[in-house]
Amino acid sequence: RWPEFVQIKEVGPRDGLQNEKKRVATADKIAWINMLSESGVTEVEYSSFVHPKWVPQLSDAHEVGKKIVRNPQVCYSALVPNMKGLDLALEAGIDSASVFMSASETHNQKNINKTIAETYPVLGQVIEEAKSAGKRVTGYVSTVFDCPYEGKIEPEAVIRVCEQLFEFGVDDLSLGDTIGSAVPSQVEELLQAVLKRYPKEKIIMHYHDTRGMAIANIMTSMEYGINRFDSSIGGLGGCPYAPGAAGNVATNDILYLLHGMGIKTGIDEKKIRDASLYIQNKLGKLLPSKSLAVAAAK
Ligand code: HMG
Ligand code: MG
Repeated sequence: RWPEFVQIKEVGPRDGLQNEKKRVATADKIAWINMLSESGVTEVEYSSFVHPKWVPQLSDAHEVGKKIVRNPQVCYSALVPNMKGLDLALEAGIDSASVFMSASETHNQKNINKTIAETYPVLGQVIEEAKSAGKRVTGYVSTVFDCPYEGKIEPEAVIRVCEQLFEFGVDDLSLGDTIGSAVPSQVEELLQAVLKRYPKEKIIMHYHDTRGMAIANIMTSMEYGINRFDSSIGGLGGCPYAPGAAGNVATNDILYLLHGMGIKTGIDEKKIRDASLYIQNKLGKLLPSKSLAVAAAK
């Protein structure tokens, strides 16, 4: 019934930090990412090559990419919105480019300043160039359930974006509950539509935990055979262009769930706890993960 192994992508250094007002020093980010690299996680999204005015916290992406110690077992990815971002990311070093757009027209415009139709040629070129540079490409599709501006997003709108991104050549797609509003019945509705068209191996689920529904949604996703999830250490994070969005499901919480169920991840929970406490200390505030709070009290 459940997968034997679940692959986790640690998005804390990107999705986790992008919404934090308090700037984390570049050297501290590097030390933190190095800790994550040694935790057993197979992919780390280390930063974003977006416009520094849009996401100031990640304006040091290039330096971070150059200075982190690369573990050959880890795939290092970064968010890339356009060709300028891709050129910088390739120079700083990426194994995988994460392109992104939204299934909601309004969220797409607020987030990347383009309509969906205007975004396609930009991403088409980025994907083509990244592939010809020998990189993997993941396509994020945001607001796959609900949009903070438009409300419910129909699965057909999500499929249209998925179809186009697969046609451009992405290796896999990460479907984002950007505002953490979905409940399991919505997950079922979407996955039924998506898995009719694409193999489950190509689908990653990206849950924000705004209303505490992420773990329930992960359970439902696993019932559909999904075994790839994005998570953020300590539950850090949120989308700066999605009002009310909170952090991703905490890596600590998903590990507690999976390991407790006997599902392997290859990740060392203690190392994740230590890396969580490290960034918690740098940010000077408690991170939302409940499993972290329990582990930290021990
Ligand atoms: P724009 O202003 O429309 O860009 O922004 P433009 O192409 O018109 O260029 C304007 C200026 O920006 C130019 O400089 C460009 O060179 C420069 P000027 O000639 O005026 O001096 N520029 C750049 N500089 C650095 N890096 C770049 C870059 N591109 C252009 N890559 C843009 C368009 C996409 C750049 C902007 O809207 C942007 O950076 N948006 C990023 C927003 C963002 O990071 N949002 C959060 C991430 S998405 C997310 O969290 C959701 C996700 O987690 C999934 C989920 O939860 O659902 C992935
Ligand atoms: Mg996100």
